[in-house]
Amino acid sequence: MNDAKERLPGHIAIIMDGNGTWAKKRGLPRNFGHRKGVQTLINTVKYCQQIGIEYLTVFAFSTENWSRPKEEVDYLMKLPEQFLESYRQTMRDNGVKLRVIGRKDNLGEKLLQKIIEVERETMNNSNINFTIAFNYGGKDEILNATKHIAMALKEDKIKLNDINEKLFYDYLYTKDLPVVDLLIRTSNQIRISNFLLWQIAYSELYFTDVLWPDFRRRDLDKAIDEYKNRNRRFGGLK
Ligand code: IPE
Ligand code: IPE
Ligand code: MG
Repeated sequence: MNDAKERLPGHIAIIMDGNGTWAKKRGLPRNFGHRKGVQTLINTVKYCQQIGIEYLTVFAFSTENWSRPKEEVDYLMKLPEQFLESYRQTMRDNGVKLRVIGRKDNLGEKLLQKIIEVERETMNNSNINFTIAFNYGGKDEILNATKHIAMALKEDKIKLNDINEKLFYDYLYTKDLPVVDLLIRTSNQIRISNFLLWQIAYSELYFTDVLWPDFRRRDLDKAIDEYKNRNRRFGGLK
């Protein structure tokens, strides 16, 4: 394995931001930006696969996004169903393993069904692990893990001293994914907005002012190039 490949981020996470701004700049309704963003996402998965990224996790809807106008929330709730349906054959053909992480208790029955179907269909794929964080919140994830750990403790399934970082990780929605190497956020917003919290403790952060619908291969290349030149120290000296 050459040096460059070795330094490729194994797990890239993306906060896909700026769809609304993109639409507004063109005098279009915000939902047009969301639709355009889906195309960018499909291209991004394909490109990540081409260059050998093993894990790609994207933020599509946060637990806070429910506070948007009903029309926009309704649209954002419909999008993944359409996306999964139109993209499922491609995922099957290209060996994409899909996971959807986040709260499931307040999602529509049809969407839940579709998620289960496509996750099942792609579970043995191994080309790229593509995870969509939908109705996801980092704080919600940590609270959910804490409740389940408390329950396990109460039911004597674990002991107090069993609770360590490794055990805690096993209770997160991302238990089957490694921690994030490179976190990218588009649209010039320099914040995390409750995305993966535990998993980004030692991630390299990369912010760009490119709006998500405009994000192209060269933009990902730039982020990865910068990542390769970062000095990851994990608290040590290197
Ligand atoms: C990101 O784009 C998509 C979601 C949050 C669902 P935005 O809709 O947040 O776009 P801006 O930030 O308003 O431009
Ligand atoms: C974060 O973007 C959520 C997603 C990209 C899905 P937001 O647009 O919701 O974040 P804030 O409100 O600007 O922090
Ligand atoms: Mg935004």
